[in-house]
Amino acid sequence: MRKILTYGMVGGGPGALVGDAHRKAISIDNSARLVAGCFSRNPEKNKAQGEKLGLSADRCYANYKEMAEAESAREDGIDFVVIVTPNVTHYEICKAFLEAGIHVSCDKPLVLESVQAGELKRIADEKGLLFMVTYTYTGYVTVKYIRDLIKSGEIGDIRTVMAEYPQGWLYDENNSGGKQGEWRCDPAQAGKVNCLGDIGTHVENTVGTMTGLKIKRVLAKLDIVVPGRKLDDNDQILVEYEGGATGMNWSSQIAIGCDNGLRVRIFGSKGSIFWFQENSEEVVIAKEDGISHTIKRGYKVMTPGAAKYCRTPAAHAEGWLEAMANLYDSFTECVAAKKAGTFTMEMIDYPLIEDGIKGLKYVEACLESSQNGNVWVELKV
Ligand SMILES: NC(=O)c1ccc[n+]([C@@H]2O[C@H](COP(=O)([O-])OP(=O)(O)OC[C@H]3O[C@@H](n4cnc5c(N)ncnc54)[C@H](O)[C@@H]3O)[C@@H](O)[C@H]2O)c1
Repeated sequence: MRKILTYGMVGGGPGALVGDAHRKAISIDNSARLVAGCFSRNPEKNKAQGEKLGLSADRCYANYKEMAEAESAREDGIDFVVIVTPNVTHYEICKAFLEAGIHVSCDKPLVLESVQAGELKRIADEKGLLFMVTYTYTGYVTVKYIRDLIKSGEIGDIRTVMAEYPQGWLYDENNSGGKQGEWRCDPAQAGKVNCLGDIGTHVENTVGTMTGLKIKRVLAKLDIVVPGRKLDDNDQILVEYEGGATGMNWSSQIAIGCDNGLRVRIFGSKGSIFWFQENSEEVVIAKEDGISHTIKRGYKVMTPGAAKYCRTPAAHAEGWLEAMANLYDSFTECVAAKKAGTFTMEMIDYPLIEDGIKGLKYVEACLESSQNGNVWVELKV
């Protein structure tokens, strides 16, 4: 029988965006129970959130350092921690839990610089700890299906990939986007990029997961469109992949009318695949004879690697929370196997720390390209 794991959370206080999504996603499969947390640096908000979530008072901690030390010392300490704070804090918090010997799930972008990420990987490897970076979109059943289709050669050699993630929520200077928008647009809390780190990394990771392509070099134009802003809010990037395929990635927060418009169109030598996050129950496959098929999640045609994550029948829609739940399904299975001594690398079906590092190298190359007058820059691998 699979034992129910326990976890702790850092971030995800009252009104926070993604912490709540992680809690709901984990609860879908009842694969782990929240027993500890440090939800906010504000003591009242922290306490209120701990009480609302039913935590015992002694496991609602004043800060993450205290939490890492105390949980690692307890016989019944947490099996893993979920880190859902603003980007600038990720490095120190991840490091504290890894050093305390606790498996980590951290949201993207992993940290601010790839050097920091490399240091986290070194500690995780040394201690034999698991590390997931929650690129949520890779959890969709249809994304896993596309990954399998491309691997099987369904559309031949990939020639070009058009990918975009437009949003419109930060379209003008009078619209700060609440506390989520404020920290994303503040270099002291978000780092050297806003839009590219926030959603551009999703584009890079989703394309990489679906196609298996590795980026060789980029030519980027990172723009600040809204007056007074210090960080990018509209990014256009030309991409060259190893092996000769090309692509274009666009991410934007000033595209009025767009919400979470992550869209990927992959063009191969024998056909094309189209996927749209806002209609993620479907995959369109077009063949050279001009015939297009729409494949719906939930039907037998799904590959086994995708079908095993189907939760509801076709057209009883699954979405963003289920995609996140699928990442946790694999991650908690791996954490449980680590505890039981039965873990093997083949069990992993979630985004790794290496994917987080790739995302940061993509950001760094794009920044260098944009700051030097939009020139081609090779990714430092
Ligand atoms: N995977 C996704 O699809 C996705 C979606 C949204 C956000 N994110 C990422 O999740 C992270 C959080 O984003 P958000 O939009 O939820 O932010 P948010 O501002 O809504 O929430 C951040 C929370 O962290 C708390 N916090 C800040 N510093 C803390 C500290 N030192 N200790 C404890 N709590 C602290 C804040 O009080 C707040 O409750 C970011 O890295 C973001 O890029 C990922």
